Amino acid sequence: MNGDCSQEDEEISKVVVITGANSGVGFALAQRLLALEITVTICLACRNVAKAEKAKTELEEEYKGAKVDILQLDTSSIASVTAAAKELQRRYRQIDYLYLNAGIMPDTGINWDYLLWCLIHPSYLVDALSTGEGLLKMQDSDTKDGLKLIFATNLFGHFLLVRKLEDFLCEKGCHIIWTSSSNARKKNFSMDDIQDKKGRQPYSSSKHGINLISNAINDRLKEKNVFSHVICPGFSITGMTSPMLGSLLWSLLYPLFVLLRLFIPIMCVTPWNSAEVLVWLFQSDASEVNPALLHTSHKSFLGKGYVKSKKIEFYSHEPRLLYKRLVALQTTLEGMGPIG
Ligand SMILES: NC(=O)c1ccc[n+]([C@@H]2O[C@H](COP(=O)([O-])OP(=O)(O)OC[C@H]3O[C@@H](n4cnc5c(N)ncnc54)[C@H](OP(=O)(O)O)[C@@H]3O)[C@@H](O)[C@H]2O)c1
Repeated sequence: MNGDCSQEDEEISKVVVITGANSGVGFALAQRLLALEITVTICLACRNVAKAEKAKTELEEEYKGAKVDILQLDTSSIASVTAAAKELQRRYRQIDYLYLNAGIMPDTGINWDYLLWCLIHPSYLVDALSTGEGLLKMQDSDTKDGLKLIFATNLFGHFLLVRKLEDFLCEKGCHIIWTSSSNARKKNFSMDDIQDKKGRQPYSSSKHGINLISNAINDRLKEKNVFSHVICPGFSITGMTSPMLGSLLWSLLYPLFVLLRLFIPIMCVTPWNSAEVLVWLFQSDASEVNPALLHTSHKSFLGKGYVKSKKIEFYSHEPRLLYKRLVALQTTLEGMGPIG
């Protein structure tokens, strides 16, 4: 690990921590922030340090004078999250932006039967293409801590990171930005099965959980200048999507996806375009942004990037209830043994 900042450095530099920043949208965000403000300190909080080193080298070559640090973080591991939270507090005097971007949708494949069905019923096609609903097959598994992998990686690990950093973030304020998805669906989430052990949409469930928990955190901490918001990066071709079709097929389909923007403007297609909403929040006054909306990257057919926001579906008691359930889960897991 590296990245000890001198106090003088930090006084002029905003500190931006991005989880899952070695590729895809997280990496594009690091590029766009450095293009905008070369003085920001970017901390790539990544599971795979070798890939993070490569990303750091690329960023430093592309943006001369860039300050890029690496932090080892596996969001699916409680021990790793605990260690990373300690290290962040040791390293930095404050975190200005915490982008909770890491995410997985493992072993996905296309549900061809559903796609064919949608072609016969085109009214479902736009929804399927823009959210992936019903179109993607996925397989969940268990972590060493006994959690479902998708839940642990996308939601719980990030929740735990915020919990472990809470007092530190409240000292100076912070803008927390969670990456959700247009695939987040209330109907795929159950308060009685928050890990979606029984369900068939663990990705959608984890992302709806993110929408709820971000609202709970914003409610709890906004008075202390810690704001929490959720975004969807639209659709782009990244490490997450490539296993579905393979890179050659994606390259062949690229023009088709650009054409689809005529009807589905969340077809951002590239990670750079998908990072639009993340950059928008970086430039926004966090206290003015509505936490109850999902803010999404769009790209017009003529190539203009913009953000559109829509209301997240939830009952007012649900964010608090999920918060309580996650705290209870944390307490249970931490009571089970030495996890850091
Ligand atoms: N691409 C889209 O169309 C789309 C649409 C909606 C939402 N999203 C969301 O956007 C976010 C970024 O995804 P992407 O599309 O940019 O995919 P990506 O290129 O696969 O990036 C995902 C990142 O998350 C990291 N990651 C995975 N598991 C991790 C773990 N346990 N601990 C720490 N890091 C981990 C990956 O690191 P490794 O290299 O170690 O695997 C990678 O850096 C995700 O939250 C995803 O759900 C993407």
